[in-house]
Amino acid sequence: MAVIETIVVAFWAMLPAYVPNNAAVLAGGGRPIDGGRSWGGRRLLGDGKTWRGTAAGILAGVALAAVLTLFAADARAATGIAVPAFTPAAALSLAAGAMLGDVLASFLKRRTGRERGAMFPGLDQLDFVVVSLPLTALVATDWFRTVFTLEVILVVVVLTPVLHVATNVLAFKLGLKNEPW
Ligand code: CTP
Ligand code: MG
Repeated sequence: MAVIETIVVAFWAMLPAYVPNNAAVLAGGGRPIDGGRSWGGRRLLGDGKTWRGTAAGILAGVALAAVLTLFAADARAATGIAVPAFTPAAALSLAAGAMLGDVLASFLKRRTGRERGAMFPGLDQLDFVVVSLPLTALVATDWFRTVFTLEVILVVVVLTPVLHVATNVLAFKLGLKNEPW
């Protein structure tokens, strides 16, 4: 596969995992998942992880996977690039895995004394990859093996932090996010 094709496939395949974070920022608010509970003098997750944001994130990711699946054949015909359709299991595990990774990252941030909104370089940029890819490999194994070749995974690991930084700076500038990370 040519590099540009690999990048397009990686981006397409990861969109259902990328979008949940952005949807959560837009839809967030209301009751925090941890219900305000603390552990060891710190919040379990913090007010930045809400039920509404998480549910909206997962729904947005799955909905996007459904739309991409509808257009996959047309996109392949038009570009000649083998962008994949998503199985229901792949769609759900990519979206839910992204949200779970984000929640686990907040759990780790609180355990290491970082307040809500604090920066955690590396974790902030890759938390959703670290959970969504292994989860998808687990629940949609055949689909994962076909789509996420070693090259695609390498592109994801390089591309994701770049996209994450870019979208968060943009969301910050637009006043949608309190911090640019
Ligand atoms: N958000 C949400 N539910 C989630 C993830 C995000 O409601 N599962 C919303 C919250 O309003 C949150 C905002 O999106 O404040 C930004 O998300 P994020 O940067 O992940 O949260 P932070 O507020 O920075 O908190 P943390 O330090 O725990 O990451
Ligand atoms: Mg944050």
